Amino acid sequence: MRLIIQPDYERLSRWAADYVVAKINAANPTAEKPFVLGLPTGSSPIGMYKELVKANKEGRVTFKNVLTFNMDEYVGLPEEHPESYHSFMKANLFDHIDCPKENIHILNGNAADLEAECAHYEKMIEEAGGIDLFLGGIGPDGHIAFNEPGSSLTSRTRQKTLTTDTRIANSRFFGGDPSNVPAHALTVGVGTVMSAKEVLILCNGHNKARALQAAVEGPVTQMWTISVLQMHQHGIIVCDEAACEELRHGTYKYFKDIEREQL
Ligand code: GLP
Repeated sequence: MRLIIQPDYERLSRWAADYVVAKINAANPTAEKPFVLGLPTGSSPIGMYKELVKANKEGRVTFKNVLTFNMDEYVGLPEEHPESYHSFMKANLFDHIDCPKENIHILNGNAADLEAECAHYEKMIEEAGGIDLFLGGIGPDGHIAFNEPGSSLTSRTRQKTLTTDTRIANSRFFGGDPSNVPAHALTVGVGTVMSAKEVLILCNGHNKARALQAAVEGPVTQMWTISVLQMHQHGIIVCDEAACEELRHGTYKYFKDIEREQL
């Protein structure tokens, strides 16, 4: 696993966006062989999305031959609700880039048959040839997508119950009241993320320090689902200084040393 430590959120966002742009351009995608990108929501990726929009507007990257698959969506929240992940993705990325509508995939949390919706989503990813690069964030409890503590590390797309911790964390988007946060979500599984050819996780801020410590220094465990990234052949975490506060001094110095070319 690589750990890229950036001074602050702005630099982290730029690093992540530059990485995505470089990967898409290197793949030189076509309609027949598109680049397949997994995408997160949350506050962590907002800065990166701004940079991607800028890169697209400046002609440094095009999303014309990029297929996207979002990680998750709340169950039972109308698509038009301002806090649905459909709305989030439009507002922060899709309304501002040249990615064709038909290339965009987001789980439907209002499907009549949620199980069938999840199975179909997995099938679409498979038919697309798998995810080339899965981008993600981390919850303060170390969850990836909505794979809460205790999720199977080989899980695939399915419905999950959100923990009270996550509903409290996300209540800032729902008028501060955790009971307004939907209790369930559809989410890609830990196994779905791990099947991607490459995974890039964004981790910023002091409130993620314990999760980063568990991800990098802890054992692989279902209680910190992000920790399974240690088993991925091409896993990267890009973080800021604030998120490093719980890392051992030696760990911090080690990654600074081997990644010094990136600074
Ligand atoms: C939600 C999302 C996750 C995200 C997490 C952290 O639970 N389902 O994908 O990583 O929030 O969000 P934030 O980036 O706002 O801290």
